[in-house]
Amino acid sequence: MSRLVVVSNRVGLPSSRGGRAGGLEVALTEALQAKGGLWFGWSGQVAEATSTAPKLTTLNDITYATVDLGHSDHRPYYEGYANGALWPIFHYRLDLLRYVREEFDGYLRVNARLAAMLAPLLQPDDVIWVHDYHLIPLASELRRLGVGNRIGFFLHTPLPSPDVLVALPGHAALTEALAAYDLVGFQTRRDLHAFQSYIREEAGGEVTDDGHILAFSRVFRAGAFPIGIDTPTMETLSTEAAESEEARRLRDSLAGRSLIIGVDRLDYSKGLPHRLAAFEHLLATRPEHRGNVTLLQIAPPSRSALAQYKALRRELEQAAGRINGRFAEFDWTPIRYVGRTHRRELLAGFNRTARVGLVTPLRDGMNLVAKEYVASQNPDDPGVLVLSRFAGAAQELTGALRVNPLNMEETADALHRALIMPLAERRARWEVMMEGLRRNTVGAWVDGFLSLLRRPSDQAEQEPLPPPRPPRAAA
Ligand code: ADP
Ligand code: F6P
Repeated sequence: MSRLVVVSNRVGLPSSRGGRAGGLEVALTEALQAKGGLWFGWSGQVAEATSTAPKLTTLNDITYATVDLGHSDHRPYYEGYANGALWPIFHYRLDLLRYVREEFDGYLRVNARLAAMLAPLLQPDDVIWVHDYHLIPLASELRRLGVGNRIGFFLHTPLPSPDVLVALPGHAALTEALAAYDLVGFQTRRDLHAFQSYIREEAGGEVTDDGHILAFSRVFRAGAFPIGIDTPTMETLSTEAAESEEARRLRDSLAGRSLIIGVDRLDYSKGLPHRLAAFEHLLATRPEHRGNVTLLQIAPPSRSALAQYKALRRELEQAAGRINGRFAEFDWTPIRYVGRTHRRELLAGFNRTARVGLVTPLRDGMNLVAKEYVASQNPDDPGVLVLSRFAGAAQELTGALRVNPLNMEETADALHRALIMPLAERRARWEVMMEGLRRNTVGAWVDGFLSLLRRPSDQAEQEPLPPPRPPRAAA
């Protein structure tokens, strides 16, 4: 079997394991632990200058190849174009899009540098799997260096419809860069359809019935591959974690009150201010819950150098303080706001303790937290998931109470319904969701993507690649 080479901006280095939040790192760690291979990407260190060669570490069949990024590369690439332009637009936040031409150039430059450092590590039959919006141009850069291996790409975020995507300066160059991959994967059918529409409407390309894309003088595949979690491990972890010292302390501190849990990176896509407003509305309009329910919101800071993220943190801290000031009693605080990451087993135990999992992103590619909440439940007494219709996970987790997070009253009503839901209904809803989670595990996701990536195209022989041309200026 050919070696798997995973490429992502974040690398789940053993030294950082369990200490960071982020769906990509969690999923790929689980995938590579099962398969072994090479994991290439950023070391997480910002240095004086970008490395000239990766640092290699091998542990349990995985070789980690990581590079430091210099300030002058990291800022335009990560804080600039990736998280200042791509992240907001992919989450439909045109209002937050900030485009600076030098940052786009920096993004392309870092991709070219990463490709140049990765190419010498590659073996002829390696299968290369590139992840997320930071690295869209990586394959075209590798092709320019003569890499002919099969290369796949998976987007962990949503892809917006073409009328939103065309507002992104650089969209034409980026979608053309996607054509250098053999397979492009999305989280949901909706994201796939957005891409297919773009190909037809903006790129003048064609989409065949069997999922091939004919565009930019290339033939490649595109498909939907909803990412899963390691369901059996999560089930075991949560059963054990429910008996842990920390879970016991949490239960004791609740003194019989119901727990609502929210676990998110502190990101504007997660709808946290709307969530607190809905909880406040619940307490304001249904006094029977006052003193009887606690919201534990765990939200470790993320991308803290960016102004929008700093502002969001301030906003949430103020909102939690204000709501607590409005409703707290001497022996009850409605919101416990915790700004730290926690070990996975701890989170699993907390999830199992919570009567309600509250997951209300304004947009999310998938949202693994929702799946982890469901998989952590006690089958005899499961909690209820309240889930945003705008999370990719909502297309699979049909047993959840589905809400529009922009509708505060609807979310508050769903919370009320979840808190009083009879056991029989909770069980029925949970079983439907667990059935799907047991089938579509992270292992099945990896196998599904890689088996299609390894399969040669049955379309006409690939045209020889056109001669490389310099990256195009933003459209
Ligand atoms: P995203 O990739 O946008 O952060 P996901 O919900 O898909 O969102 O994935 C987040 C992952 O990070 C999940 O596996 C979740 O358990 C983990 N995570 C989120 N918050 C924390 C936290 N406070 N401590 C540890 N892990 C966290
Ligand atoms: O899953 C989406 C994602 O953007 C990943 O690409 C990323 O690793 C994770 O969220 C956390 O964000 P960051 O790497 O910027 O801390």
